[in-house]
Amino acid sequence: METSNTAPRTARLELDGKTYELPVVVGTENERGIDISSLRSQTGHITMDDGYGNTGSCYSKITFIDGEKGILRYRGIPIEELAEKSSFIEVAHLIIYGQLPSSKQLQRFSDLLTRNEMLHEDMKFHFEGFPSNAHPMAILSSMINATACFYPETLEPYDASTFEVEAARLLSQVRTIAAFSYRKSRGLPIIYPKPAYKYSANLLHMMFSEPYQEFELIPEVVRALDLIFLLHADHEQNCSTSTVRMVASSRANLFASAAAGVCGLWGPLHGGANQAVLEMLQAIHKEGDDGSKFIAAAKDKKSGKRLMGFGHRVYKNYDPRAKIIKRQCDELLAKLNINDPLLDIAKRLETVALQDSYFVERKLYPNVDFYSGIILRALGIPIEMFTVMFAIGRMPGWIANYREIAESVENRIYRPRQIYIGPPLNHYIPVKERTGQ
Ligand code: ACO
Repeated sequence: METSNTAPRTARLELDGKTYELPVVVGTENERGIDISSLRSQTGHITMDDGYGNTGSCYSKITFIDGEKGILRYRGIPIEELAEKSSFIEVAHLIIYGQLPSSKQLQRFSDLLTRNEMLHEDMKFHFEGFPSNAHPMAILSSMINATACFYPETLEPYDASTFEVEAARLLSQVRTIAAFSYRKSRGLPIIYPKPAYKYSANLLHMMFSEPYQEFELIPEVVRALDLIFLLHADHEQNCSTSTVRMVASSRANLFASAAAGVCGLWGPLHGGANQAVLEMLQAIHKEGDDGSKFIAAAKDKKSGKRLMGFGHRVYKNYDPRAKIIKRQCDELLAKLNINDPLLDIAKRLETVALQDSYFVERKLYPNVDFYSGIILRALGIPIEMFTVMFAIGRMPGWIANYREIAESVENRIYRPRQIYIGPPLNHYIPVKERTGQ
């Protein structure tokens, strides 16, 4: 594998009286790793890294994060620049295809998304089968997987010539599925996408228009949703993206890989945190707590509580996305004339936590989920749809990571090892001779 700045250096490992040389690999931004791919064949040992905190699972050209400095770049471009100047669809092109599109490329990409925005009409019957209180993340993952059944070519091995359409179909239809699942959960008639609308406006239209009355698209609202998507578009090897790569490494199709990503995202320690943050803020508000009781509980391991939206495996500094979202939150609420007490609680929690030695020593800062829920709430997105919004935003990253795996000639199936700590050799006992209740 070619890496930039590859320094002619090795790490030396001493084990059982022998010395082994392991290559040191260096990334574009001078991040360093020890290549242990020959460790087991050379030494008979594997490495142990519970939770993969120190494990590099791949080389990737998509996203760079420096968690100590709070830096995030898509294909080398700082997130702050993209947030200010770009749009979600332009960024999706950047992430998936590696470059900002020319105006011709952007038009082609947009047209492709528009041409592929409709679900196959028979997909509508699948929505009927879910109970009305089904969680939309369950519907989303099922329906993304089901979509592939309607396009048999999707099930074929990766083909660069059909990838463009498949990627557009997934990116465009994830939004249609999300809107349909919301309408279904409310017992409302389905609203079809409107080709004239751009990506984020179209989602708001499908969620909130009525057959007899179009939803009023306020530019600031559309822009805020687009920004939320843009800020979530990729984040290197997190739980859901690694899941996508894991599934893709078995040569599963794009839709199966993305459906698995949705499931990985769902948990409250990952994408589900945006829902958990809002629930936490609502509970604090309801109790009339000024936040101090909750902070005390979050510091007490026995309470089982955590300050949701705080802390990150990689960021040991303010998450750059959280900074942008916090600013956007203030601007949007002012524009819409909304005075949300949950925003005040969130700000108070942040101020208290950032001065508290528990959070300071552990380098726990607000992450992307801390303020995003307040924006989504202001946009009228119901709380159970928050993680779905995250999944829509993350789709370009999953597609790009899928593509990296699919196009890699060196790709081997992902297959970690383990250290077995169960019983030693044991033997079958017939049921009559077994003791115990
Ligand atoms: N509240 C209170 N304590 C925390 C929090 C928190 N939010 N996050 C971490 N800690 C504490 C841990 O208890 C641990 O303390 P210890 O050293 O005394 O045992 C220490 O900080 C390190 O935490 P870990 O869980 O080991 O950190 P890890 O990197 O495994 O987890 C995670 C990161 C899952 C994000 C964690 O910080 C967390 O649970 N945060 C709340 C949930 C959340 O906001 N998730 C969204 C993350 S961003 C995203 O996925 C999009």
